[in-house]
Amino acid sequence: LARGVTEPDLRGRHVVISAGGTREPLDPVRFLGNRSSGKQGYALARTAAARGARVTLIAANAALPDPAGVDVVPVGTAVQLREEVLRAAADADAVVMAAAVADFRPAAYAAGKIKKQDGREPEPVALVRNPDILAEISAGRPRPGQVVVGFAAETDDVLANGRAKLKRKGCDLLVVNEVGEHRTFGSEENEAVVLGADGSETPVAHGPKEALADTVWDLVAARLE
Ligand code: CTP
Ligand code: CA
Repeated sequence: LARGVTEPDLRGRHVVISAGGTREPLDPVRFLGNRSSGKQGYALARTAAARGARVTLIAANAALPDPAGVDVVPVGTAVQLREEVLRAAADADAVVMAAAVADFRPAAYAAGKIKKQDGREPEPVALVRNPDILAEISAGRPRPGQVVVGFAAETDDVLANGRAKLKRKGCDLLVVNEVGEHRTFGSEENEAVVLGADGSETPVAHGPKEALADTVWDLVAARLE
C-alpha cells in the first residue's frame, strides 16, 4: 500500500499493539528500564486506525500523545503488560508486540526507599525472569487465525538471529532491526527486514516509522484474508 493512499483494508478488524518499554521497580522511586521511545508502536497504532481497524494500544511508559481514535491502555511492568495484552488479545485479529519487554525483574520489591549504609558495599540486585508474552500468545492463539507479530533488535548476524528467534517465538512475522550507533532508539526513522514463518523476507528501506508500520499491516492483511 503506497503511503498517503489509505484504504480501509483493516475495517472490521481488531488489532492489539504493545508499545514502549516496561519498567521493573526496585523500590518506590527506582526501576530497571530501557530506552524504547514507543514511537514505532504508536506509528503502528496510527496507521492501523487510518486503515479502518479498531485499535487497542497497550502503552508501557511511552511519553507520547494518545493517537486519535485509539483505545490506549497504560501499563508499567512486564507482568501488567502481559495481563492487558492477553485481555485485549481474546478477540483480536492481530497482535503486534512492538514493546521492549524487560527480560528480568528484581526478585524483591522494597516497599520503602533503599538507603545507603555507612561503610558497607551494596548488595547485588537479584533478578528473576519475566514471562515471554510473545511466545505465550503465539503458542496459545487466543483467537483462531490470529496473526502474531514480534519485533527484534539485533547487532551481529542479524538475519540468522532473526530466523532463529522467529522459530523460537512461534510468531507469524518478526520485524528485525539492526541496531548500533545512531540507529533506531528514539529516532523518527527505521530500517528493517520482516521475516515470515513461511520463509518470506520483506526488506523495508530506511524511512519513517509509518512506512515500516504500513508494510507490517500489508503483510498482516494478506495473512488475514
Ligand atoms: N517479548 C515478550 N516478552 C518478553 C520478552 C520479549 O513478549 N519477556 C517480545 C518483544 O516484545 C518482541 C520479541 O519478544 O516482540 C522479541 O524480543 P527480544 O528481546 O528480541 O527477544 P528475547 O527472546 O528476549 O531475546 P534476547 O535474549 O535476544 O533479548
Ligand atoms: Ca529480550
